[in-house]
Amino acid sequence: MSPTLRVSVIGGGGNVGAAIAFSLVVMQAPVEILLVDVSEKLAEGQALDIRDAAHLSPAQCRVGKFEEVGSSDVIVITAGARQNPGEPRSNLIDRNYVILKSIIDQIQPIKSSAVILMVTNPVDILTSIAQKLSGLPKSQVIGSGTFLDSGRLRNYLSRKLNMSSSSIHANMLGEHGDTQFVGWSIATIAGAPLLQYPAMKDVDLDEIEKTIANQAYDIIEAKGSTYFGVGYHVATLTRCILQDNRKVFPICNYVEKYGTYLSFPAVLGSDGATPVDLNLSKEEMSKLETCANNTKAICDKY
Ligand code: LAC
Repeated sequence: MSPTLRVSVIGGGGNVGAAIAFSLVVMQAPVEILLVDVSEKLAEGQALDIRDAAHLSPAQCRVGKFEEVGSSDVIVITAGARQNPGEPRSNLIDRNYVILKSIIDQIQPIKSSAVILMVTNPVDILTSIAQKLSGLPKSQVIGSGTFLDSGRLRNYLSRKLNMSSSSIHANMLGEHGDTQFVGWSIATIAGAPLLQYPAMKDVDLDEIEKTIANQAYDIIEAKGSTYFGVGYHVATLTRCILQDNRKVFPICNYVEKYGTYLSFPAVLGSDGATPVDLNLSKEEMSKLETCANNTKAICDKY
């Protein structure tokens, strides 16, 4: 029986798009996955390979056309230039703006209930631009934001504290870029403040923040690009939207208080994202303001 819910992955011929699709198959998500790419051959190859696994899952995967995308429930956009070793994500904006504009033009009309999930970098800026170009409500255009970075942070802390990352609630905030920061003031372990945990007493917090913010550079230096981590995290967000789980994730979403898109915790469901109200420290609010001003200044140019 064909799944009723549809996800289109634009850039599905690439490693990130394919990793997202494969992760949804592994998660046993009951969804039709369309791999859409300017290179139909690449998309076909990925779909054939993923189908060799999908027959063991309720998910289905095939090559899709741009004109099919607008009827999807979730539209994941991963297409674009990627960082060279040592290159900041912000360098990609001009090239990836042109690609994003072409994509949005080709997938119109987009159904009014669709959710766009941006992944292409610089993701926070491109999420804001995608909302303007698509005309969808701000809550229905989101980006993967610092969800992956927060996973890296929790993974790092779980090794340091010798406990499961599922018991550590700590997030990277601001932007999926070089100015991201740890929301230490709202980080908890089993509901108690993380910074009061004895094992955190002599830990170099700045060192942890720098390590996490630079992790992608280390992976790109070693293997050319990242895709498994971002693939699984984006598939987790996609499944949450499809199942209307209403979980809170640190994703790129429109935060009214700052008048722009930020990587900030939000409730995620089939209607998109609703930012949660958090009491950050003065220092963290100032860092968030800096991220917001940077994003607004760049987005105003497009
Ligand atoms: C990374 C890419 C997705 O951080 O920006 O791995």
